[in-house]
Amino acid sequence: MSVRVAVLTISDRRARGEGEDEGGPLIERMVTDAGCEVVQQGIVADERDHIEARLRGWSNSGDADVIITTGGTGLGPRDVTPEATKAVIDYEAPGLAELMRAHGMTKTPFAALSRQVCGVRNRTLIINLPGSPKAVAEGLDAILPVLGHAVEMMHGGSPPVSI
Ligand code: MTE
Repeated sequence: MSVRVAVLTISDRRARGEGEDEGGPLIERMVTDAGCEVVQQGIVADERDHIEARLRGWSNSGDADVIITTGGTGLGPRDVTPEATKAVIDYEAPGLAELMRAHGMTKTPFAALSRQVCGVRNRTLIINLPGSPKAVAEGLDAILPVLGHAVEMMHGGSPPVSI
């Protein structure tokens, strides 16, 4: 059984249709290459209500094991992804965010500027990634090796997942 992944791009510009979304498609490619199945994708503006509504809707549906977001994790006034994520999760998985920041900081000190959060809502693991394609690739490189086991544990230890 493969891990089912929903991908959410969080960006004012992309939500207005300006420019091309690179982060979302990159996540889709990388998780597919790792053996996951992409079950949902979407784009929302950097609005806390919109982000929370999408995270609640997708996690309540039970259709995805993992929701991966990209964007809105920095220090800017419009960066509200961590707050929206914290508002919807049942419990946090801080080690996953620590792992991504630690790995990122071996590449660039700017990785310290992401406030990305990870946690579980309704047996759905929500993972924040920063917005840049480089940060997306580095973040996924760090956590993909532990994602299958994380999902397995979240579901109570079974069934095993092939990643
Ligand atoms: N993490 C990694 N691994 N590599 C990066 O290049 N860029 C950082 C950081 N995280 C980066 C990274 C930068 S420059 C910013 S501003 C923050 O993520 C927040 O990005 P966001 O607001 O697009 O989410």
